[in-house]
Amino acid sequence: MKNILAIGLIVLFASCQSKEEILYQQYVVEGRSIYEKNCSNCHQSDGSGLRDLYPPLAKTDLWKRVSQEQLVCIIKQGQKGNSQVNGKPYAGYMPANAKLEAIDMAELVTFMQDQWGNKKVYSFDEAKAALKNCR
Ligand code: HEC
Repeated sequence: MKNILAIGLIVLFASCQSKEEILYQQYVVEGRSIYEKNCSNCHQSDGSGLRDLYPPLAKTDLWKRVSQEQLVCIIKQGQKGNSQVNGKPYAGYMPANAKLEAIDMAELVTFMQDQWGNKKVYSFDEAKAALKNCR
């Protein structure tokens, strides 16, 4: 009986969520798995980075310094020794992620924003446009 009540409440709660909210939750879940697979080795699961080698993504000025479009291109193309994070230079090498497509970027950036930036969905259309403009 208790269980049925609990399930009922969950269903009720779920049906109250907007489409937008459900998409957001979906992107965060998918994005987390993309992050774990491709990024957490270096930047760590909690985004704290690794000593002087890999810059943090959590609690940094990244979110003020870099637009979402630039972020997508950094992830896509990698970079080499030109980051200055929280005023500290990093000289390491970040490999490219050429196989990540627009949907992966939308999910990944939404996850990253959820964890460390502003809690907003980064849409598939935005990711697609950003990828097209990477130089
Ligand atoms: C092999 C280790 C490695 C992996 C894997 C890696 N990175 Fe990096 N990342 C780095 C290094 C090193 C830098 C600093 C590069 C530089 O000095 O230009 C960096 C820089 C960045 C920056 C710029 C930080 C800033 O504040 O300017 C972002 C954003 C970033 N990485 C995100 C990611 C994401 C997202 C992934 C997964 C798709 C990822 N990285 C995978 C090593 C890595």
